[in-house]
Formats: sequence, structure tokens, C-alpha cells
Amino acid sequence: MTRGRFITLEGGEGAGKSTQIALLKAALEAKGIRVLTTREPGGSEGGEEIRNLLVNGETHRWEPLTEALLNYAARHEHLQKLILPALNDGTWVLCDRFADSTMAYQGYGHTMNREVIRRLHRLVVDDISPDLTLIFDLPVEQGLARAGSRGEGEDRYERMGSAFHERLRAGFLEIAKKNPMRCSVIDATGDVGAVAMAVTAEVAQRLGVDL
Ligand code: TMP
Repeated sequence: MTRGRFITLEGGEGAGKSTQIALLKAALEAKGIRVLTTREPGGSEGGEEIRNLLVNGETHRWEPLTEALLNYAARHEHLQKLILPALNDGTWVLCDRFADSTMAYQGYGHTMNREVIRRLHRLVVDDISPDLTLIFDLPVEQGLARAGSRGEGEDRYERMGSAFHERLRAGFLEIAKKNPMRCSVIDATGDVGAVAMAVTAEVAQRLGVDL
């Protein structure tokens, strides 16, 4: 059995990841590839309960380290119960956010000690790595406007102020620069169709599928 490919989608608020993940799933399935889409924080049953603690409530409700620990607890459940079994079964996993979000949000956004995050990462994720990470990039104001117009709750991070969001945008771009073999930056300012074309081109080129 060939192991499935692991693709993560990352970026700030309102970047259009959920729309793009659904389109990418359809494009891969049309080629006969089995696909599981999932998200973080969440994915597993327990992980979704942890998600509720993180995405709702007062902005200052948690210490940054608590947020990182909760995200890595949810990630451990997610990896063990969903992601690794699917990959081992030959299914491709498309994950809306993964570990880069902890580095960007808690590390760069909340200015937490990044070595502590790296230690948590070694403990929980070790050498498991996405085959490809798509980092959706767009100006903060545009992203927050799009996210705000969704009005679906779960907006604890959206309320954190533009300086926080500028730090995390810069964080994501730095992560991409430091990991060029794994990461591609996608310009998320265009319309849905233009962004989808950029996504399929990148997946086709990087992972050798004909999309
Ligand atoms: P989203 O799925 O709508 O993007 O919401 C998840 C929120 O959680 C988003 O604002 C980013 C944040 N987050 C972190 O702060 N750290 C993490 O490790 C992850 C996975 C998400």
C-alpha cells in the first residue's frame, strides 16, 4: 500500500482555505485519489471539544502557552486517531491548518518563546511532516473583512487586533521562506477560480499528479 500524501493549508483569517480545500478534494477525487479533509484545532471527536475552548470566548481567556498546549493536545488526538491511519491506508489527507498555525499564532502572534513550541512539536509530531504546505497570503485588512462578513461565530482570534494579525502574516511568510521544500505561498487576493488554479498548479507540480 502506497502511503497517502499529507497536504496542509495555512494562513491568516479569511484567506479562503475552506473553499479551496473542498475544490482541491474534488479535483483529486476526479483523478481517482481517495481524500480525507479535516481541520485543526479539531478533526477528532475530542479535538473538536478542545477547539470550542480555543475559538470562542474572551480574547484573553488563555495564556499563550495554554493555547499551544491545547492545540498540541488536539493535534496528538488528530494524528493518532485520524491522520496517520488515513495516510497508512493510502488516503490523501488535506488538513485545514496544522503545526505552522501554532508557530504563527502562538509563536509570532502572541510572541511566545518559539523554542518552547519547537519542543512541543518534537514531543507530539516528531518527524511527521506534511508533504506540501500551502500558505494562503493576503493583506490583513482584506482577510479580516472577509472573515467578519462570514459572521459564523468562532471569532476569538479575529477579535485580536490588526497588530496581532500583521505579526502572524509575517510569521507565515517567514515559515515559508525557511521551509522552501515543503511550503508554497499562494496569493489569496484573487477570486475563487484564480486561487483554485494556483492551488492545483502547485499540487500538480510539487507532488507529481496530473490535475
Ligand atoms: P479557523 O479554522 O476558522 O481558521 O479557526 C481556527 C482558529 O484557531 C484560527 O483563528 C487560528 C487558530 N489556531 C491557533 O491559534 N493555533 C493553532 O495551532 C491552530 C491549529 C489554530
